[in-house]
Amino acid sequence: MAPTSCSQGRATCSTRRAPSSTGWRPGTSTSYRREAGRSTSMACKALGDGNTVAMVIVNPGNPCGNVYTYEHLGKIAEMARKLGIFVIADEVYAHLTFGKKKFVPMGVFGSVAPVLTLGSISKRWVVPGWRLGWIVCNDPNGVFHKTKVVDSIKSYLDISSDPPTFVQGAIPQLIKNTKQEFFDKTVEVLRQTADICWEKLKGVSCITCPSRPEGSMFVMVKLDLSCLKDIKDDMDFCCRLAKEELVVVLPGCAVGYKNWLRITFAIAPSSLEDGLDRLKSFCLRHSKQK
Ligand SMILES: Cc1ncc(COP(=O)(O)O)c(C=O)c1O
Repeated sequence: MAPTSCSQGRATCSTRRAPSSTGWRPGTSTSYRREAGRSTSMACKALGDGNTVAMVIVNPGNPCGNVYTYEHLGKIAEMARKLGIFVIADEVYAHLTFGKKKFVPMGVFGSVAPVLTLGSISKRWVVPGWRLGWIVCNDPNGVFHKTKVVDSIKSYLDISSDPPTFVQGAIPQLIKNTKQEFFDKTVEVLRQTADICWEKLKGVSCITCPSRPEGSMFVMVKLDLSCLKDIKDDMDFCCRLAKEELVVVLPGCAVGYKNWLRITFAIAPSSLEDGLDRLKSFCLRHSKQK
């Protein structure tokens, strides 16, 4: 689905194997009976083809900072059921939400369509870089077992490099003993820095932020090149910003959005304010004279 704004995040279709190889076909009875939304339905149908086996959703979203509602996730599950595909839910930013919408795990719709959920310690527990996560099957109807998807995933575990043993050793402590206070504090800092981003970006003339981030650690903003006198595109913008102001943002082209920028706000409030002030001076310096 190619979004016109970033508020919706993205769903992508995986086209590795034909659906017949998973052997799964939509059932007739589901616990969730809402009709799938027309636009989602049409966009998904347009993306998929006869080889499509799964839909990938990232919730809360990187790069857009979007959070899906229960209703929206229900429509996704219903759509997957209709298409006879499963859902891969990347939820490494689970529970990192600070807007009105609470995080809802896709797995609650596992009886509508089978769901493979990905999780990680890197975001919620703030242990980035150690590559330790998990895959959970939310599949009360046993589709993944029947179709040997679980066996296939297990066989891949043998060829991937293992995370360091000391991180593996820390997992029981980490899961059992991390206090709610720690999670609350992380979300509170993200709420504060998301607000700083939202407010400060309003004062940057060549940048528009279409929707306030509600989760994860990122926001996508649109670059208006017509206001800038000597910047070619998003990549040029980011390279020169890094060189001139020592501020790093991701060019949108890296995540499929030409002339957008991804800004992360997972940083101390004072550093974020400084970074956004530098971004503003950079834009002013490169602005066309009025
Ligand atoms: C959406 C998403 N999924 C997965 C990952 C990978 O997480 P990990 O640090 O556990 O490898 C990231 C990391 O940035 C991410 O943004």
